[in-house]
Amino acid sequence: MKKKLIAGNWKMNGSSAVNEVLLKAVIAGMTGNDCLVAVCVPAPYLAQAQALTASSGIDVGSQDVSQHESGAYTGEVSAAMLKDFGVRYVIVGHSERRQYHAESDALVALKAQRALASGITPIVCVGETLAEREAGQTEEVVKRQLAAVIHANGHCISEIVVAYEPVWAIGTGKTATPEQAQQVHAVLRAQLKAATPHADRVHILYGGSMNAANAAHLLGQLDIDGGLVGGASLKAPDFLSIIAAAR
Ligand code: PGA
Repeated sequence: MKKKLIAGNWKMNGSSAVNEVLLKAVIAGMTGNDCLVAVCVPAPYLAQAQALTASSGIDVGSQDVSQHESGAYTGEVSAAMLKDFGVRYVIVGHSERRQYHAESDALVALKAQRALASGITPIVCVGETLAEREAGQTEEVVKRQLAAVIHANGHCISEIVVAYEPVWAIGTGKTATPEQAQQVHAVLRAQLKAATPHADRVHILYGGSMNAANAAHLLGQLDIDGGLVGGASLKAPDFLSIIAAAR
């Protein structure tokens, strides 16, 4: 059975001083018998996170990547640059980027492609809004979002990580019930199975108000292979409890 993956998404939080305290506490609290663990940090702190986590078993991730290879794209960070910093994962298509930066399914698919081409694992986020859920469109929305990435990445699709993050559960304290989450994860697994014989290898993470109290129940579901954790990843004891629940 594959190990679960717990990835922290720090979003636009942290400082050199705060990051150091947080990472040292997380490393000190790990037992050596943990699941796969990663922290996706703001780009300016990649080098710091890399240095602090060296030989700790924690991988470093970024929160976005450019769809372009290199060139005149002021402000962008390329996949090759992330690779240069020892980055293992990159989040693509987070709902905050889809919403505030108008990222389309096609753009997210291109970003995933760039990451894979540089040997970085994209954590592809999919998820419905509350209005879409209430309109009964959850399956249709997540399948459309994942289909774009499958279409652009062909046989490499077994190399991605998927994160199901219902938009209405992100940062709101409202978590999908384990049954609601499992239902969508099963849909995503079936879609991956239709695209690759290696779909069982793919980690499908749940994200959206995962915390120390609800993690074990969510992670106990058949197709929930880990978590993408926002708020709770900023507090070492909470993040460690989630890591322990994933063991
Ligand atoms: P949350 O965020 O855990 O704070 O809800 C999850 C995410 O946005 O990845």
